[in-house]
Amino acid sequence: MYLQQNLDYTLFDWSKQGDLTPIEVERAEGCYFWDSSGKRYLDWNSQIMNVNIGHGNRHVIDAIHAQAEALPYVSSFMATRVRGELGEKLAEITPGDLRKTFFTLGGAEAVENAMKIARMVTGRDKIVTRYRAYHGATAGAASAGGDPRRLPLEPGVPWIVRAHDPYRYRCLFCRELDGCNLICEDHIEQTIEMEGPQNVAAVLLEGWSGSSGLIQSPRNAEYFQRLRRYCDRHGILLIIDEVMSGFGRTGKWFAIEHADVVPDIMVMAKGLTSGYLPLGAVTVRRDIADHFDDHTLWAGLTYGGHPMCLAAASACVDVYRNDNLIERAAQMGQRLRDELTALAQRHAIVGELRGEGMFYVLELVRERATREPLSPWNGPLSAPMRRAKQYLDSAGLYTYIRWNMIFSAPPLILSEAQLQQGIAHLDQALTLAGNEKR
Ligand SMILES: Cc1ncc(COP(=O)(O)O)c(C=O)c1O
Repeated sequence: MYLQQNLDYTLFDWSKQGDLTPIEVERAEGCYFWDSSGKRYLDWNSQIMNVNIGHGNRHVIDAIHAQAEALPYVSSFMATRVRGELGEKLAEITPGDLRKTFFTLGGAEAVENAMKIARMVTGRDKIVTRYRAYHGATAGAASAGGDPRRLPLEPGVPWIVRAHDPYRYRCLFCRELDGCNLICEDHIEQTIEMEGPQNVAAVLLEGWSGSSGLIQSPRNAEYFQRLRRYCDRHGILLIIDEVMSGFGRTGKWFAIEHADVVPDIMVMAKGLTSGYLPLGAVTVRRDIADHFDDHTLWAGLTYGGHPMCLAAASACVDVYRNDNLIERAAQMGQRLRDELTALAQRHAIVGELRGEGMFYVLELVRERATREPLSPWNGPLSAPMRRAKQYLDSAGLYTYIRWNMIFSAPPLILSEAQLQQGIAHLDQALTLAGNEKR
């Protein structure tokens, strides 16, 4: 059908174009989508971890229609009804005194603008980030993430400094010890000491690590609380990127709430509209907002505050609230965790299960004792990983597989029957990968 036309006339993300056979998607509803042959896929990854409320939600679609009829677009310099309405809703659902929002078209642009705001407010240059993190594909955001997708694009922007992650399973600091000693957090402080705290505008971290493999300190709350205190002592802003981890993904509105920490700047996208239209947001605390009362905000986008995108987000927030999706994510997430834990116990190739709420990763290894990855970091998929992927594709379970990791991030509306279906497919995929390894 249209696959060939897609391949002939368009370029796809992050791939050698010659190897591609993207699925021809015809329609989507709830937790499923269908290809042009009528085959049904269970969307176990909410597309790119963004369709949190599921596909085809009537309330959001109607809101987009209504906004298109009333006022599809005006300049980002204009005030609109929906802009005020969504701004207020975001102030309500974000923690602490996070108050005013700047709108962008997606996550990367939101990260760019968050970093700009931090640099403007503090008058300092450097932004400290982590290696195992992804913050988007534009120049500054790609530099900010240490994710290897940045490597072919380097040198990046010169004012990013990266530190190591609280990767307990392969930790540089405490792997041989019984528990986490939080040296991972001291390491960030030390890095900043070496860089000169007076030169550091902000520390930028994901609220919950995402595509790098849900790498989070087992002492999550202490990790963030210590960092918060350190930043406060040195006038450094804390930017939390909730692009992937926000909007119920971890069983709370925002993952940073697990640590009971209020960031100075929060970055959102993905679940903000659940993908119905593109939108990113940078929400800042009241004192940062006040700074711009008498300083120019050197930021702007033709499509910032696009009314139709804002209408999608506003309706989406209603859906999270009215359908109690955040509470549901916490409850269903517990079921998902229990089932994945059982899989992890049954299959020797599972080295570690990590995650929270409706957000998990199974990290696969050749031997539990050596923890040798089943597929190399930043390399092509090994034969066992390819076998797992091939099975899931043919069985109609759509999910994200990266290196030696299989992700589980289904829509928050997942039913018990769908959960069982997904787990059964994962079970079989792990069996096949385990057999292939031998
Ligand atoms: C944590 C995080 N930040 C930022 C981004 C970039 O968002 P976008 O792809 O909308 O630019 C992503 C995308 O996956 C992400 O996971």
